[in-house]
Amino acid sequence: MAMIAIRNLTKTYRRGPEPVVACSVHHLDIQPGEQVALIGRSGTGKTTLLHLIAGILVPDAGSIEVDGVPVHQLSEGQRDRFRAATLGLVFQTFNLLQPFTALENVLLGAVFSQGGGHGPREHAEQLLQRVGLGDRMHHRPSELSVGQQQRVAICRALVHDPKVVLADEPLGNQDKATGREVLQLLLELAREGGKTVVMVTHDPESAAALQRTVDLTALRRAS
Ligand SMILES: Nc1ncnc2c1ncn2[C@@H]1O[C@H](COP(=O)(O)OP(=O)(O)OP(=O)(O)O)[C@@H](O)[C@H]1O
Ligand SMILES: [Mg+2]
Repeated sequence: MAMIAIRNLTKTYRRGPEPVVACSVHHLDIQPGEQVALIGRSGTGKTTLLHLIAGILVPDAGSIEVDGVPVHQLSEGQRDRFRAATLGLVFQTFNLLQPFTALENVLLGAVFSQGGGHGPREHAEQLLQRVGLGDRMHHRPSELSVGQQQRVAICRALVHDPKVVLADEPLGNQDKATGREVLQLLLELAREGGKTVVMVTHDPESAAALQRTVDLTALRRAS
């Protein structure tokens, strides 16, 4: 069974005079453990698709199943619980909370779900060590570089051991070499845990590091 199965999905905004089709996907299956790069021109609906998969947005039509759960049919509360239990999210603005240390920010990712076999604190510390921040655990985001903050966000997304990781251009605002390093770390940690990854990227070299590329521009044309 596919980990993510999408059929005849559309999301339309009707704010202006003309409706805007923000996202349209006729058919897409992503298998358990697959690592997929999501590409496509600006405005083709990459971010919208991630938000639909995560149950942050609700489609107008069509279906999305994640790990057998029909996300499009869930209530808001059910979607919140589904997201906390099943997904790890790394979004463009990584939203670390300034008053908290790196370790506390990672632990916040474990607050709403039971993660892994270890205690959450132990797991958070292990992850921070793995990404090279063992000596920065008790620093606040403002005391960390952008690349370091990104690594904290990755740990936060993984600390509750989600089946699926969704990432939106995590390389956006840093130099390419650092960005690719962070990406490699995310892919490596995800691979070890057998996680399914869907990552939006504009960088062809980063896309090549994933197993499969899905081009939303082409998917739109096909539907
Ligand atoms: N809240 C909204 N109201 C109206 N239109 C929206 C809204 N959010 C997104 N859109 C439109 O939906 C389309 C898809 O947006 P989306 O952010 O998913 O694109 P994207 O592929 O992630 O682009 P980028 O590569 O620039 O991040 C765009 O045309 C955008 O203008
Ligand atoms: Mg986007």
